[in-house]
Amino acid sequence: MDSFGFIIHPLYIRDLFRVNKILRICPPRFLKKFLKYIPPYKISTIKINSSKKEILRGYFIGCPLLPQQILDLDKDSVLGKIILAVRIAEKLGVKIVGLGGFTSIVGNKGLLIAKNTRVPVTSGNTYTAYSVLKAIFDIAKQREKKDLSQATAAIIGAGGSIGSLCAKKLAYYVPRIILTSRRREKLEVLKKEISHFNSTNVIIEKDSHRAVKEADIVIVTTSTPEAILTGDEFKKGAIVCDVSLPENVCLEKGTERHIFFLKGGIIRIPFDVDLGIDIGLPKNMVFACIAETMLLALEKRFECFSLGDNIDVGKLDEVAEMSTRYGFEVVY
Ligand SMILES: NC(=O)c1ccc[n+]([C@@H]2O[C@H](COP(=O)([O-])OP(=O)(O)OC[C@H]3O[C@@H](n4cnc5c(N)ncnc54)[C@H](OP(=O)(O)O)[C@@H]3O)[C@@H](O)[C@H]2O)c1
Repeated sequence: MDSFGFIIHPLYIRDLFRVNKILRICPPRFLKKFLKYIPPYKISTIKINSSKKEILRGYFIGCPLLPQQILDLDKDSVLGKIILAVRIAEKLGVKIVGLGGFTSIVGNKGLLIAKNTRVPVTSGNTYTAYSVLKAIFDIAKQREKKDLSQATAAIIGAGGSIGSLCAKKLAYYVPRIILTSRRREKLEVLKKEISHFNSTNVIIEKDSHRAVKEADIVIVTTSTPEAILTGDEFKKGAIVCDVSLPENVCLEKGTERHIFFLKGGIIRIPFDVDLGIDIGLPKNMVFACIAETMLLALEKRFECFSLGDNIDVGKLDEVAEMSTRYGFEVVY
C-alpha cells in the first residue's frame, strides 16, 4: 500500500502536551529552550480506512521547533532539521511528504527541501488556497447581499504562497482587490501579473489595518505567528477568513455579530481517519495541507505539487477536481 509522510511542529508549547502528557511537568520556558535540541522523530502512524479496509497509510514526523524558532534560528540548522524529518519519512518508505506549518515557509517555500531529498514534497498550499476560496464563494452565494461583482477584497499576506494564489483567482471575480504585505516588491510583481489578465483595480496597501477597513472579503494568510488584527477592525458584514496558523485575527466578544468569520483551511475526509494523535480538530477533519498530501497519495501523484511562492493558478482546478472526486469537503 502507498504511504505518505507529513511533517508537523508545535504551534504553541501546549501542543506538545497533546502528543506527550508527561511534558506538563516541565516549565514552558525550559521546554521552549530545550526543543531545539530534540531531533525529528516519528510521532504516529496515520490509518485511513474505507468500509473497514485500509486504503492509505501515513506518518506524522515531528520537527520540534516553534514557529518563531523556525523563523529566527540559524537558517542552516532549521533547514537541516526539516530535511532530517523528511529523510525519516523516506526511510519509512513513503512516496510523498507534506510540509506542515512553518516547515514550508522557510527554504524558499519548500524548494530547498525538495532539492535536498529524494522523495517529492508539497506544501499543501494549493488545496489550502482552494479551501479558502471555496468557503468564501459558498458563503457569498448563501448571503445574497454579498455580490462579489461589487465587492472589495483584501488579502493580508498577499506576497506569500497562499495569499498570491488567492489574489490571482479572486481577481477574476471582484472589481477591486487590496494587496498587503510588509515588503512592497513582491506585491508590485503580483499586481502586474493580475493586471495582465484582469481589469480589476489592484491596490497595494502596506497597512493591513487600513486595508481591512473597507473590504467586504478579507483573507488573512501571513507568516507572522501572532495576532495582528482584531475583530472590530473589519467592515460590518465582511466575510473574513483567517487561514494563518497560528491565528492572525483575535476575535473579541461581539465580533460574531459584526462580521462573518471563518477559520479557513479545514477539510472533512469521507473516510475513517485515525491520525494516531490529537491535532485539535474533530474526528475525520484535518488541515488542508494534510488533506492535499492525502489527495496526492490517493491519486498516486508522487510529485512536488505545491512549492515556491508563485504557484500556478491552474493547479486550483486540479485540486478542486480531485477533492470533489474523493468527496473531501471544505468545512466552514
Ligand atoms: N490551515 C492550513 O491547512 C494551512 C496550510 C498551509 C499554511 N497555513 C498557514 O497559512 C499562513 C501563510 O502560509 P504561506 O505558506 O502562504 O506563507 P508565506 O508564503 O510565507 O506568505 C506569508 C506572507 O505574509 C506576509 N506577512 C508576514 N507578516 C505580515 C504582517 N505582519 N502583515 C502583513 N503581511 C505579512 C509575508 O510577506 P512580508 O514578509 O513581505 O510581509 C508573506 O507574503 C501561515 O500562517 C501558515 O501556517 C495554513
